[in-house]
Amino acid sequence: MKLLNLNISFEQYAGIDELKENDAELCKLSEQALAGSYSPYSKFRVGTAIRIASGEIILGSNQENLAYPSGLCAERVALFSIGSNYPDAVIESMAITAQTDAFEILKPVTSCGGCLQVMAEFERKQSAPIEVIFYCLNGEILKVPSVQSLLPFSFVEDRLAVKA
Ligand code: THU
Repeated sequence: MKLLNLNISFEQYAGIDELKENDAELCKLSEQALAGSYSPYSKFRVGTAIRIASGEIILGSNQENLAYPSGLCAERVALFSIGSNYPDAVIESMAITAQTDAFEILKPVTSCGGCLQVMAEFERKQSAPIEVIFYCLNGEILKVPSVQSLLPFSFVEDRLAVKA
């Protein structure tokens, strides 16, 4: 038996003013994206802003449905929109934020496992890391250098081999 360890490094900021300009802009746009959220069932709005290498920024927000499982998280809404409209784009970074009237959000809200799996495949496909910024509105911010560091055991085909 071998005991192995994984370490991840990430940055923590006390607020948006501590971020470099590019990242602060992305956070503010993720807040703007909240306006597009359709979340009458959870009343939990999530917004994301994704910067691609051309400099363009694509927004996304969670979209719910009365048939609950048919809804989709903000991250996947934006990523699949990039996949459809900019299939060769290289994603540089994405900022994610959340808002709800039901309670106070004290810490940055981090992405669900399903979104992380989709983010992981976009990162693998482009062979370049995607920076992920989790923005707590008017509060703490976490910046992670890659999706790989958030989901080191994503489902990937290189764990499989073709049978002889
Ligand atoms: N949600 C997201 O948009 N992103 C996540 O990573 C987690 C959850 C949405 C889905 C649903 O519309 C609402 O938040 C409550 O779960």
